[in-house]
Amino acid sequence: MIPMVDLKGQYKKIRKQINAEFASVLENATFINGPVVGEFQRDFERYLGVKHVIPCANGTDSLQIAMMALGLKPGDEVIVPTFTYVATAEVIALLGLTPVMTDVDINTYNITPKIIEKAITPRTKAIVPVHLFGQSCDMEGIMAIAKKHSLYVIEDNAQAIGADYKFSDGRIAKTGTIGHIGSTSFFPSKNLGCYGDGGAIMTNDDQLAAKMRMIANHGQPARYLHDVVGVNSRLDSLQAAVLKVKLPHLDKYAKARQRVAAGYDKVFRNIEGLQIPKRSRNSSHVFHQYTLRVKDGRREALQKYLDSKGVSCMIYYPIPLYKQKAFEAYWNGKELPATEILCNEVLSIPVHTEMSKETLNFITKQVQDFFAA
Ligand SMILES: Cc1ncc(COP(=O)(O)O)c(C=O)c1O
Repeated sequence: MIPMVDLKGQYKKIRKQINAEFASVLENATFINGPVVGEFQRDFERYLGVKHVIPCANGTDSLQIAMMALGLKPGDEVIVPTFTYVATAEVIALLGLTPVMTDVDINTYNITPKIIEKAITPRTKAIVPVHLFGQSCDMEGIMAIAKKHSLYVIEDNAQAIGADYKFSDGRIAKTGTIGHIGSTSFFPSKNLGCYGDGGAIMTNDDQLAAKMRMIANHGQPARYLHDVVGVNSRLDSLQAAVLKVKLPHLDKYAKARQRVAAGYDKVFRNIEGLQIPKRSRNSSHVFHQYTLRVKDGRREALQKYLDSKGVSCMIYYPIPLYKQKAFEAYWNGKELPATEILCNEVLSIPVHTEMSKETLNFITKQVQDFFAA
């Protein structure tokens, strides 16, 4: 089977450095809060151009800690896209806040300023734009709305780490550093993935950074002093070691993914029943996923066909969040049209850093054959 990601192939190329870093952690027994955690943190701050990175245990925790730091009260509303991974809305509900699930743009699959503005009520306190599949939401527009209505913005950057967002004045910033807080996941298949669970929170705000650092560490400003109720959420040293080795490759990894996407585009744009992923105007696309829309109700047939030819493919995401049992209580019963269409049409195919030209050609040929039959 051609996998969605090729982590084995990627490891082979960085094996020496990874193993050396692992050996150092093992030999020094610095499993928790070892020096490599701080080293990665500083490297990552430099790479992103952000003042503070707070490493934590996973992407879901990073969203939760961000949300906890904002001092929101039960019943406060947080706007999230409904076409996303469950973690985005989950932490909001978990904290007794109300996730207000909105539609997304049918072309970019992302939430937009216009959609957000329609969802704002007097109880709205925050917005969580998700940079889905690897490209940024319209952050300039979103930050303008947030300012107008005094709302916090937490960017869920789990899928777009390394992407660049260009402001109308030409300034460029990394996604995850534009909102009041950014969050990300280092799940192994992410663009910057470790070999277990990991996550990080980003901010340029000194006070929020101090608060989030404290929350992530049992609410402790100093050992055995607990100022707020916190959580235990750490990036362990072995994971930080992987990330330290991989970070210098991240831009090269993005380019490899972009090359695959360009190869797919070239062939698929000429196939009538397919919609290739559209690019946002002000963002680079780091292709965490290459997600097609398959028209005319043929998605399941294409998925089955590719599976029979040994090509993995996945549906991210098959069911709108509001139709999930856990989130029924937050739904007003009205279907959101773009989300419904996307859940019925999207299909993600393999895109990763190790894909050869032969594999790419094999995959495109299978898709062409399916539509030619
Ligand atoms: C958009 C989005 N948000 C949050 C998460 C949660 O990250 P983690 O699995 O590290 O908790 C993910 C990861 O799958 C994600 O894709």
